[in-house]
Amino acid sequence: MEARKPLLRALGGEAVWPPPMWLMRQAGRYLPEYREIREKAGGFIALCTTPELAAEVTVQPIRRYGMDGAILFSDILMVPWALGQPLRFAEGEGPVLEPLRDAAAIAALEPDRLRDRAAPIFDTVRLTRVALDLHAPKVTLIGFAGSPWTVAAYMVEGHGSRDFHVARGMALADPGTFGRLIRTLVEATTDYLLAQIEAGAEAVMLFDSWAGMLPPSQFRRWVIEPTTTIVRNVQRLHPSIPVIGFPRLAGPLIGEYVARTGVSTVAMDTAMDPRFAASAVPAGVALQGNLDPLALVAGGAALEAETRQILAAMRGRPFVFNLGHGIEKVTPVENVAALVRLVRGGG
Ligand code: CP3
Repeated sequence: MEARKPLLRALGGEAVWPPPMWLMRQAGRYLPEYREIREKAGGFIALCTTPELAAEVTVQPIRRYGMDGAILFSDILMVPWALGQPLRFAEGEGPVLEPLRDAAAIAALEPDRLRDRAAPIFDTVRLTRVALDLHAPKVTLIGFAGSPWTVAAYMVEGHGSRDFHVARGMALADPGTFGRLIRTLVEATTDYLLAQIEAGAEAVMLFDSWAGMLPPSQFRRWVIEPTTTIVRNVQRLHPSIPVIGFPRLAGPLIGEYVARTGVSTVAMDTAMDPRFAASAVPAGVALQGNLDPLALVAGGAALEAETRQILAAMRGRPFVFNLGHGIEKVTPVENVAALVRLVRGGG
């Protein structure tokens, strides 16, 4: 029964066609029903920590579009929050953390309290799984976390950034201190993903949105090595749970990333050529991606042409259709419906 879910089959290495699909940030502000619930919750963190509301938002895109995957509604920065780092989401400003700049601040993080503080998030997973089992038994529930490098970059910088100068500088100038933060995050992220799996997540994804800003030596040290440890930790206890890695803008390092980390599936970013990825990654490893979110905003002929090209490149291999990055807030809801029809048609 489980194994028959199309998304789990593809993540497990089967070439399912038409490919199963879901979209990064499929729950969010482009949906009127999301905006309504967010209003009700009062704030973004309140929404992430109110299981009934977060579970409702998680299933909204399933109800509207019938996606193959439901991704837990939360955020990668809920791990720093659960470690005790003050976090807020300011309207129109994005996330703001109290920046972590020295060894003392890193030592003050509380990995022992993560399971306690993040308990409402695991309850969201439990509630969502019950709802899906009841109303959408073919839909796979995906848990997630940010990868240590990307999460550390926000923790050190304190906010989003075009180039994360402070974090990259600390990683180079004081790798001992930065390494301590990364080790804390490896431990916390392992624990956080295991708790999601115990609560009912059937696959997990690691978002490394800022992987591509590191030179190769730093990429190996701060992206590949920590990810490898987390994947090994998860697979040791849950060998049948697929792990999706998203090393955004890794470019030609995508092959090495897959070979060394042992991820079951690699998510391609918008800039990745799917044909290159197919040649760089073993045929049994599933690929996911990678429509330009702006093609989904544009709709019409551009959407159709971009979608068909990806489908043509991926036909015959294990593949999950997705975007190359998160859905844009200005995306017309009817374009998402058109995309679902296109992908379901198989190209
Ligand atoms: O639907 C889903 O994909 C599940 C939920 C999800 C969110 N964030 C919800 C969210 C997921 C998987 C994420 C991941 C995430 N969060 C990443 C990695 C993926 C990527 O986009 O690169 C990153 C870097 C973040 C950090 C983050 N969270 C930023 C930079 C922002 C502000 C930008 C923005 O879009 O507002 C957020 C806020 C956020 N996370 C929102 C949502 C729906 C918007 C908050 C709101 O409703 O006001």
